[in-house]
Amino acid sequence: MKQPKEIRKPEGKLAVLLPGLGAVSTTMIAGVLLARRGLGRPIGSMTQLGTIRLGKRTDGRAPLLKDFLPLASLDQLEFGAWDLFPDDAYESATHAAVLETRHLEAVKDELVAIKPMEAVFYPEYVKRLHGTHVKTGANKAEMVEKIREDIRTFLAARGCDRAVAVWCGSTEIFIAPTTVHDSIESFEAGLLADDPAISNSQIYAWACLKERVPFANGAPNLTVDFPAAWDLAKQNGVPVAGKDFKTGQTLMKTIIAPGLKARMLGIAGWFSTNILGNRDGEVLDDPESFKSKEVSKLGVLEHILQPHVYQELYGKLFHKVRIEYYPPRGDAKEGWDNIDIFGWLGYPMQIKIDFLCRDSILAAPIVLDLALLMDLASRAGFSGTQEWLSFFWKSPMHAPTLYPEHDLFIQSMKLKNTMRWMMGEDLITHLGNEYYD
Ligand SMILES: NC(=O)c1ccc[n+]([C@@H]2O[C@H](COP(=O)([O-])OP(=O)(O)OC[C@H]3O[C@@H](n4cnc5c(N)ncnc54)[C@H](O)[C@@H]3O)[C@@H](O)[C@H]2O)c1
Repeated sequence: MKQPKEIRKPEGKLAVLLPGLGAVSTTMIAGVLLARRGLGRPIGSMTQLGTIRLGKRTDGRAPLLKDFLPLASLDQLEFGAWDLFPDDAYESATHAAVLETRHLEAVKDELVAIKPMEAVFYPEYVKRLHGTHVKTGANKAEMVEKIREDIRTFLAARGCDRAVAVWCGSTEIFIAPTTVHDSIESFEAGLLADDPAISNSQIYAWACLKERVPFANGAPNLTVDFPAAWDLAKQNGVPVAGKDFKTGQTLMKTIIAPGLKARMLGIAGWFSTNILGNRDGEVLDDPESFKSKEVSKLGVLEHILQPHVYQELYGKLFHKVRIEYYPPRGDAKEGWDNIDIFGWLGYPMQIKIDFLCRDSILAAPIVLDLALLMDLASRAGFSGTQEWLSFFWKSPMHAPTLYPEHDLFIQSMKLKNTMRWMMGEDLITHLGNEYYD
């Protein structure tokens, strides 16, 4: 056993600040409120249900993560949000139609009390939405200041000790980094000049970094993944992570692709399509927002399968991803995958997946886990990109000199070994030859 890292205790209340009070946010909040009262179980949440093996396989030590790590408890969380619609969390959850009335009614009073703060919303970044609950300001720099004020006011009013933010707002149009994203100075000049490459989510992220609030990005937008933001995060000692919650089809992809690769089975094609009918689906119906999602979803196979190394098996892989907006389905998405694989002597086979999932039910526990783990990272003195949290992302942020790690099993090992390392426990390599000496 080594020295544990110095980690500040999770004392006082933790503000969980959510830009975007839609389906995912409200499902997460309602679930936490229900779990607090013993009216629901936080299934799918690693921090609430997961365990971690410590020491040798013969030691029999496998505590719950929440007992092993100094995490904030569910009772210590205070929820705040911004949205361009004024609906409180109860109205928004009712509109999202993810949770049943019996669940929403049981925590109605608490949900009604969560009213969104006015959004920073320049509509050109999310073309399908038109809201009125928005801030006005002379320029984007002033908008940053207004979000900073909101954060300070919220912390003071709720008596919170500290905050974390998780972007749960809509997916923005695809934006590639430009020179404005190169440095802290160029970005701040861009804010003053209303540079069009600075989107709404970047404004929230910048404000959070300035306020030293850890920021995780649940959408595929650039948001906090560019050199100026990495620099500010390091300079201010703030952890950042992203992008795009890994929930349905991509979760399946990162479970199945490493298995096929481990068996050295070839893949000729992978066609993925979804139907979904929630507001997220409506936003993604805009080709420019879909482009952000597509880029995020397409990167996964390339990095897992390494076609440059396994040319013969994956060199000609045809990968296509579609999302179709289909209102009757609401949040109950259906994702189909057709995988054309080949084996011994090149003989073809097929795998078909039909995943009838629920988008927000899969995303909610990830938001909770990220809020708690980002807060832990901050109290442990971590700053900049938190690659150890790659497990949760479709498109994990990573150092510019590295490729992202997409394989779910490697991500899980990395995550748990980081937790062991943080707490001064031995890392587990799974070598295990000492049991046979
Ligand atoms: N549900 C999943 O499985 C999943 C998986 C990966 C990523 N995501 C991403 O998570 C995000 C949230 O998904 P959702 O299903 O809750 O969508 P949603 O449409 O129900 O909620 C998004 C909310 O963000 C608000 N919003 C948009 N721009 C904003 C701004 N500038 N400031 C404040 N609020 C803003 C919208 O008004 C809306 O209420 C989306 O970007 C989605 O792509 C979801």
